[in-house]
Amino acid sequence: MSTTPLKDRIALITGASAGIGRAVAQHLAQQGCKLVLNARREDRLRALADSLPKGQCVIAAGDAAEQSVIDRALDAARSAFSREADLIVVNAGRGLNGSVITSDPAQWDEMVRTNLMGCARLLRSAAHRLLQGFPSTPLTPDSPWLKVQRDIVLIGSVVGRHVSPFSSMYGSTKFAVHALAEGARRELGPKGIRVSLVEPGFVISEFQGVAGYDDAWFESMKQKIAPMLDPSDVANAVSFIAQQPAHVHISDLLLRPTRQDYP
Ligand SMILES: NC(=O)c1ccc[n+]([C@@H]2O[C@H](COP(=O)([O-])OP(=O)(O)OC[C@H]3O[C@@H](n4cnc5c(N)ncnc54)[C@H](OP(=O)(O)O)[C@@H]3O)[C@@H](O)[C@H]2O)c1
Repeated sequence: MSTTPLKDRIALITGASAGIGRAVAQHLAQQGCKLVLNARREDRLRALADSLPKGQCVIAAGDAAEQSVIDRALDAARSAFSREADLIVVNAGRGLNGSVITSDPAQWDEMVRTNLMGCARLLRSAAHRLLQGFPSTPLTPDSPWLKVQRDIVLIGSVVGRHVSPFSSMYGSTKFAVHALAEGARRELGPKGIRVSLVEPGFVISEFQGVAGYDDAWFESMKQKIAPMLDPSDVANAVSFIAQQPAHVHISDLLLRPTRQDYP
């Protein structure tokens, strides 16, 4: 299958200070992509930016669930690179150990706000911008509009498809993200915008600490299914999706560690 280089693309990545987002940023940067990096820890973003060639990357730090931060990040692409971002990676998120019965309800609001509301706001804002200039006449198969790749990639989760009793409250936010992805795919695909969902299984990152996983439980899970995924494995998937020619859409990509049988 032929793929298209990413060197002319402009990517906005939320949650780029750690884990999957950071790996996606590094991966896309290696392929010459211009980047806008978002996360709350600005020092981390700055260190990442400093490791990249000058002029390849700008920072828009802040809470990715805030509309003003989203607007600032999208504006940053336009002012730094003179075009709207055309590869939006909606990645910022957090986990939460436990079910609806056992998880800490004091953390529910922040998780729902980050994982769902932040995702919905960025999806909406990015879609509006990507639709600027959409032709007023019906699209024909040879329309120049359909020759350009425009991607919104949402990071869902395997537990957003298969109910996991040990993280069902978190899983519910990802089920919602999956619904947003599929709804947006149906709405935007016919307009030439690819909305894709990446559904990782266990990835070793800061996620487990933030979610409050029990160390002993996670260690036993690691022993059982190792090697788990590395953030760079997910970055490969994101870049593979974005590299497809404009008429090819990999709309769902579920990746697990090979030995992860469940969920
Ligand atoms: N690790 C897994 O096993 C796994 C599996 C499936 C799906 N996922 C999903 O993958 C995504 C990334 O997870 P990860 O494994 O890379 O976790 P991670 O290492 O904890 O990284 C999470 C990133 O999100 C950022 N973030 C969190 N809340 C934010 C907010 N309100 N505004 C802006 N940035 C925010 C964090 O940066 P700051 O703290 O600096 O803001 C960090 O850069 C999440 O959506 C997660 O649900 C993870």
